[in-house]
Amino acid sequence: SAATLGGYADFMAKEIAEQPEAIERLLSGRLGEKGILLDELKMTEEELAAVDRIYLIACGTSYHVGLIARTLIQTWAKVPVICDYASEFNYEQDVLVTDHTLCVIITQSGETADTLAAARKMHGMGAKVFAVTNVLGSTAARESDGVLYVQAGPEVCVASTKAYTAQMVACALFALRLAQSHGVMSAEEVATHYQDLKAIPDAIREVISRSWQDKQAAAVFRSATSALFLGRGVNATTAYEGALKLKEVSYLHAEAYPAGEMKHGPIALLEPGFPVVAIVPADRVHDKTVSNIQEVNARGAVCVAVATDGDESVASLCEHVLWIPPVADELLVPIVAVVHLQILARYVARTRGCDVDKPRNLAKSVTVE
Ligand code: G6P
Repeated sequence: SAATLGGYADFMAKEIAEQPEAIERLLSGRLGEKGILLDELKMTEEELAAVDRIYLIACGTSYHVGLIARTLIQTWAKVPVICDYASEFNYEQDVLVTDHTLCVIITQSGETADTLAAARKMHGMGAKVFAVTNVLGSTAARESDGVLYVQAGPEVCVASTKAYTAQMVACALFALRLAQSHGVMSAEEVATHYQDLKAIPDAIREVISRSWQDKQAAAVFRSATSALFLGRGVNATTAYEGALKLKEVSYLHAEAYPAGEMKHGPIALLEPGFPVVAIVPADRVHDKTVSNIQEVNARGAVCVAVATDGDESVASLCEHVLWIPPVADELLVPIVAVVHLQILARYVARTRGCDVDKPRNLAKSVTVE
């Protein structure tokens, strides 16, 4: 059935709003007596326990999911992960496949040519391939050994929003399942992480209810020609995704850097009025990013921050703050923080007169290599 707008101004707004329910659907009933239930993996306990290396392969926004998934898998399951763009991976000659290598492809549409080619390459090398996808019966689903459907519902807007957050949650479940079979996480810890995931939909609802903050901050970008996104750790990825969203829908040039790298080049861009978006939640690298914000201010650039409720230090330094509620596990902050950047990108696009659902030159799924 064709997706309809149902009262929303565009599909981007509708799909941003659908995120809490999509994640609830994906998480529902996933914790059983023996821990995380992911029968879709189609792998025995022994096979899972033997996995000693994982390749996460994807394109575009789904590649950013892979970057977050790498951290979750390595932190929780202690399994080494390589994350690569499919378009790079396909031409690499240094792919290391053991008997226990697992390839996970992440693809909303399940039809991205580069990603499908990567899966075929991995199959050819004898690896098992598991797909995280949103589309039932897609080529990726049919050609993989196991499929985890993220069940976000049809995504119409070319720029991915609800599939991004749902895919991150799917990968979090996978990481927990893997941690379990590797015997590196107790049942109690698994249950705690699951509860932390369960709290995400409400945190996203809270962010959406604060859309007025993004609307106000969008004014900063109205006549800008470029913007710089900064973040550290898992939120360096949030910066990459925020910059990608802004480019896709508003045609405003944006680049993203891990905040600590600003001094090695991007700082030369800063001048009075230049917009910088800093993702600086309450986490172990918070104070380091605050010093980057001070460097931004010292050059007269304008800082828009994504910060955690109650953060006075950030409030006093930044022109606009996009507030997020506290998130129990700092590794899960990207799933909440990115929602502000989706909403911000949409408002910037609208103030610049762009069609947010069908940006020029882009396709929802790229079926050519
Ligand atoms: C296209 C879309 C992006 C998407 C990428 C990967 O470039 O415009 O939004 O992230 O393809 O798509 P996939 O369906 O494989 O996740």
